This record gives sequence, C-alpha cells and structure tokens, in this order.
Amino acid sequence: MNTGSAGPAAALTRGPGIRASGGCSSIGRVQGRIVDWPLRVKLVAVSAALVAGLAAALLFGLPRALDAQSRGWLESRSLAMARLLGHALEAAVDFEDARAAGAALDALQDARGTAYAVLLRADGSPLSAHRSPDEPTPLAVGGGEAATFAGGLLHVRVPIVTRSGRVATLLMGFSLDELGERRREARRTVLLSAAVFLLVGLISSFVVAQLVARPLARITEVARRVAAGQEQPALRLPLGRADEVGVLATAFHQMLDRLSAQQEQLVMADRRVSIGRLAAGVAHEINNPLSFLAGNLDYVAAELPNLAALISQGHPEATGALLQRFGEAVDDTREGARRVASIVKGLRTFARDDQDRRERVRLDAPLEAAIEMAMHEIKHRARLVRRFECLPHVMGSEVRLSQVFLNLLVNAAHAIPEGAPARNEIRVSLRLGSPSRALVEVADTGSGIPEAERGRIFDPFFTTKPVGEGSGLGLSISRNIVEKLGGEIGFDTEVGRGSTFRVSLPLAQAEEAALPEAAPDRPPPPLPAGYRLLVVDDEPMVGAAVKRALDGDLQVVVAGSGREALEHILAGERFDRVLCDVMMPGMSGEELLAEVSRRAPQLRDAFVFMTGGAFTEVARGFVEAYGGPLLEKPLDVATLRRVLREGLT
Ligand SMILES: Nc1ncnc2c1ncn2[C@@H]1O[C@H](COP(=O)(O)OP(=O)(O)O)[C@@H](O)[C@H]1O
Ligand SMILES: [Mg+2]
Repeated sequence: MNTGSAGPAAALTRGPGIRASGGCSSIGRVQGRIVDWPLRVKLVAVSAALVAGLAAALLFGLPRALDAQSRGWLESRSLAMARLLGHALEAAVDFEDARAAGAALDALQDARGTAYAVLLRADGSPLSAHRSPDEPTPLAVGGGEAATFAGGLLHVRVPIVTRSGRVATLLMGFSLDELGERRREARRTVLLSAAVFLLVGLISSFVVAQLVARPLARITEVARRVAAGQEQPALRLPLGRADEVGVLATAFHQMLDRLSAQQEQLVMADRRVSIGRLAAGVAHEINNPLSFLAGNLDYVAAELPNLAALISQGHPEATGALLQRFGEAVDDTREGARRVASIVKGLRTFARDDQDRRERVRLDAPLEAAIEMAMHEIKHRARLVRRFECLPHVMGSEVRLSQVFLNLLVNAAHAIPEGAPARNEIRVSLRLGSPSRALVEVADTGSGIPEAERGRIFDPFFTTKPVGEGSGLGLSISRNIVEKLGGEIGFDTEVGRGSTFRVSLPLAQAEEAALPEAAPDRPPPPLPAGYRLLVVDDEPMVGAAVKRALDGDLQVVVAGSGREALEHILAGERFDRVLCDVMMPGMSGEELLAEVSRRAPQLRDAFVFMTGGAFTEVARGFVEAYGGPLLEKPLDVATLRRVLREGLT
C-alpha cells in the first residue's frame, strides 16, 4: 500500500528555494549560501565588514600620512635651526676663531635631539665641532641648503657666506627619536579610534538588526505557522508600529483576517453545496419511511370502524387478530418516524451555522449524521459497515466534523461504481490511536487513487469528477478543519483495491474518553400525584401530543402562545413545570421567561425549553445562559418524563 499524508511540513519543504544558480558552480554555491543566511546575520556581517575595512584603512594609511607630515615638519625645523646657528657663527668664520665657534656650537648642549654639529672651512677642513659624527656624513661640502635622512639621523647642510665674503659650511645631524615617538603616539590614537569605530559599528548594526530583522523574523514565523495551518498565529505580530515594519505587519494581519474569513465562507459554501447535491437523495430517504408511515396510518384509520364493529358484536378472536395487525402497523409507523427523525437530525446538524464552535463531541454523533446524509449515495454501491470499538470524545465542532466525514463518505461512494452493492464495502471504524488520539477510518473497496494524483488530492479545486459532481474542495477543506483541531488526515490507497482515509484527532480528555458509555437509563419513577405541566408551543399538534402522552398520570395544560401561557400563570394557576418552545411568533420563549421572572418569580426555575432546530446563535446563547434543560424535537417521551422528574424528591 502506498501512503500519502497531508503534513504541512511536506508542503513547506516542497517550496522552491531562493538560491542563486548559474553556470559557475562555485560562485553559485557561495552566493547561494550567503543568500540563505538569516537577514540579521547578513546585516551584522555587512556592517561589521564595512567598519572593519574602514578601521584597517585607518590603521595602515593614517600613520603613514602622519609620518610623512612629521618628517617634513622635522626637516624644516632643523634647517631653520641650522640657519640660525649659521648666522651666529659668521663672526667666528670671518676671524677663523675656533674658540668662539666652539663656544657657539657648545650652546647646542642643551638642545634635545642634536646628534652632531661640524663647522667646515671652504676647503672642507673642520674649524670646530660639537660631537663629531660617527660615520662620514652623507652630505658633501659646498652647494646650497640640503637635508637628508640616513643612518637613523636627519642630516642638514647650511652654507655660510660672511659679509667679508668668506665661505663655510655647517653640517648638523638630528636624532629621529622624536619622530619615532610621534609615530608611536599616532598609532596608539589610530588603534584606539579603530577599536571605538569597530565597537560602535557592531553595536549599531546589532541595533539596526534588532529594529528591522527581529520583527521581520517574527512576521516570517507567523507566515510559516499560517502555512502550517496553525490557528491564532497573529498574536505575535509586531502591530502598533508606525514604520514600514509596522505597516507590513498590519497589512499581513489584515490579509490573515481576510483569509480566515474567506476560509470560513468556503467551509460554509462547501457544506451548502454538499447538502444541495445530496438533497434529492435525502428527500428520497425521508420519502420511503414517510410512505409506509402514511400507508400504515391509513390502514389503521380505515380498519377502526371494523374494530369497533367486532368489539360491539363480541368477536374476541377476530378483535385480537386485528389488534395484533394494528400493533404491527403502529410499530412500523414508529420505526418510520424514528428514521425520519434521525435523517432530519442529520440534516439539521449540517444546516447549523456553527461559527466554528468548540464543544465536547462524541465522535459517533457526527459520523452518524454524515452516514445519514450520504446513505442514499452509498446504498446503491456498497454495504455500509460500522466498526465502533469505542465512543471517544474530542473537542471540536460537531457540524464541521460531520462535514469532514461526509466528504470522506461521499468520496468513498464515488470511487465505487453503482450496481454491485453486495460486492463492495465502505467501512467506517472508530477506535483509539496513540497517543491520546481518536482514529476514524473510512475505507472503501473502490478504484483507488493513481500514483500521479496522490500528491494533489488535497489541493483546492483538484478533482477528477465531472463538472457538477465534484468541486475539488472536499479534501482541502476537510484537511483544514482537521488540522485546526490539532488533528491529521492521511490515506492509504492501492489502485483497483480501494482507499482508506484516516482522521486522527486529539482526545478531549484521555481518561474520560476511554471510559465506556453510561448504561442505558432505567425507567424513571412515576411523577407525584397532582403534578401540573404547562406546555407552551405555537404548533397545536405538539401540545396535543404531549397532553396525549402524559395526561394519564399528570395534568397537562396547553397554551398556544406566550401570552396565553402568561394568562394561565397570572390567573394564579399552579404549575410544577413549564415546557416551553424557544422560537414562537409574538412572545418568544425568552420573553415569556423574562415576564414570568418579573411577575411570578417562583416559576422562573421551572422552565424546560424545547426546540425544533433552526436555532439562531441568539437563541442558543439565551438557553445556555438560562442553564436549564433543553430538549430537542421530536420529543422523546421517556426523556421528557426523566427531565420533568429532575429536581423532585
Ligand atoms: N476514496 C477515494 N477513492 C478514490 N479517489 C478519491 C477518493 N477520495 C478522493 N479521491 C480523489 O481525490 C479528488 C479530490 O477529492 P475532493 O477534494 O473530495 O474533491 P471532489 O470530491 O469534489 O472531487 C477526487 O476527485 C478523487 O479523484
Ligand atoms: Mg469530495
């Protein structure tokens, strides 16, 4: 057997990746990887790379620029100093006075950074010196001013021409310690500012990432959850912001709202279409019991005069035989009425406008409602077999669960050709799955699903049926409903052998659901003598039927409207219970209760409501708020008696 399932994860992984693809595979791969990075990481990485580039440029470029600047500055300062000293030495040169020259040069003793100073005559012989250079200086005697860096020193040459026309040359050397110190200082400053840059850059890119990528990630997460079919995903959207992210979130939120509204409409529309399509069959199903019901009643009505004659003429044997036939006819009639009631109950389940309520549902109820609706489609094609191993409860909407099962049943029926119901089977099973799950299976012996279609049957509008017979929405909506309840839907199929669709749903409460159902009720003890019941219904037949069924052991008063009932009550008549219809023209059940609460409060808690279905949300809300019993029509006499007994000692 081949298995298919409608897991949302499959749909997600199936989505096309946003990958760069190209002829050059390695580039394609790298791009692909970067493209796949989370936005936040990308933002931080890009800003970190930018800031790091800037810091590197500063670190390598700035010291070099500063160095060049410092050298120029050192050169001009040293030249100026040598020029000044040159002027001071002019007199000593004029008079060849080595002592005066030595004294002038020794003044350099206190000048920091001077390595040597030599005063040379025009022929190159030294006149005087303050420290001699360790090595021959790179600058020769003669020529104009010059400065050059060599051997870790700045060498400077300044020509001296005295007023008397004598020529000399001053050579000086300056240590570069100061330059190194400046360089180190500059590097320190640059390093510090680069670190600050890097830190500020990282912090700001992190903040930007928080501001932009975080909410985007949240929106993405919500989108992912929606795609996975989860409920209430909008709770975490960053709404309420006025910036672009806020606008995006709000638009997304509105889109979700609209989507869910449309989904609701689609679910409703699918249900209505199903009912519409099955209506003729359902009418047929009702017509059958109705026809023998009417036939039996006609028979009884026609034979009644004969019975009277037989009794009056004293033919006990013939009377007995006729009464037995009457009994059989009445039994059939009751069975027919039960059939009609159960079909109408199924129909009513589908017609309810449920607004996706969550209630505690025993799973056989929606299954039976669906079977009731689909029976006409099924019975010409297959036997229907029920395998209910237990009757678990789940939390959900009975209407929607019925819709799911009806879709599965009708699909199963459609997979089997008409004409050989004895050779085909549609099996509906209900059992416990693990862990804490209820499992519903609808298995058919039909055509099976071809391999090529298996991946698509849950797609909206995918159908293999002719126009008018299939909309292609059934399975898509069913999956939607089931997943909203936290369940799953899947199938096994084999072409030519049939398919099994499986719905698993979380149990309402594991322990309770596994308990066997309560034993059937024993007949209630009789009502006390003098018990008085007021029946309020605008349909006189209902009142008459209740009166006929109960009048023997209690007093039944029938009122045809709320007003009439109020008259009885206000006239001081005593009643133990009021059995009241919810929807009535004129004064409704709710209005009657309000009046009675005001004017005869002792009767307020005596109300038992009954309803024929077609039940508005308002009416339902009212009955739930009242908290008293609610009976469904057609009334079952045993249930009615039990309810009337409740609260009595
Ligand atoms: N039990 C089944 N046996 C065979 N095919 C099925 C069965 N259930 C569903 N399918 C296939 O899945 C398709 C989609 O089903 P569905 O969504 O209910 O739409 P529709 O019944 O309107 O076609 C059907 O048209 C049919 O081809
Ligand atoms: Mg279908």
